[in-house]
Amino acid sequence: MTILKICEFPDPVLRQQAAPVDVFDEQLDKLAADMAATMFDAPGVGLAAPQIGKSIKMIVVDHSRQEEAPGVWLALVNPEIVAAEGRQCDSEGCLSVPELTSKVNRHRKVTVRYQNLQGQPQEITAEDRFAVVLQHEIDHLNGVLFLDHLSSLKRHLYLKKYKKWLEQQQN
Ligand code: NI
Repeated sequence: MTILKICEFPDPVLRQQAAPVDVFDEQLDKLAADMAATMFDAPGVGLAAPQIGKSIKMIVVDHSRQEEAPGVWLALVNPEIVAAEGRQCDSEGCLSVPELTSKVNRHRKVTVRYQNLQGQPQEITAEDRFAVVLQHEIDHLNGVLFLDHLSSLKRHLYLKKYKKWLEQQQN
């Protein structure tokens, strides 16, 4: 397995609309496994393909807690939220937006329709923290970052802070 390079904001790939996946082959399996390895290495609880520079509709999420076993991950191809209810507001960060975390409004419970790595249709219902992860990662496939959910004032302050951090990195 290969640890992939994570693209960071303002990389334009993070703003693209990802393309649907229609070929379910060994290459897709390998990409998913590499993405999972990259996610656990980071460490993070979810990773979307655009974050490693591939603008396709695939995400991987940490599924250890649900399966009660460490290191278990799930790949969701062409995921789509088909039902959502309730509200929650919890702290979020993003591997592509280092240094920043913020509270974000999300649905408390979502049902996601997707295909597995064999192309078979699946459905999963998630609540609480796991529902946040799914909503955050699916956003990435539409070029949306958690920053976009903040008020414009807060986003402005965040981007200023981030720009300063980027400049410090370059020095
Ligand atoms: Ni993210």
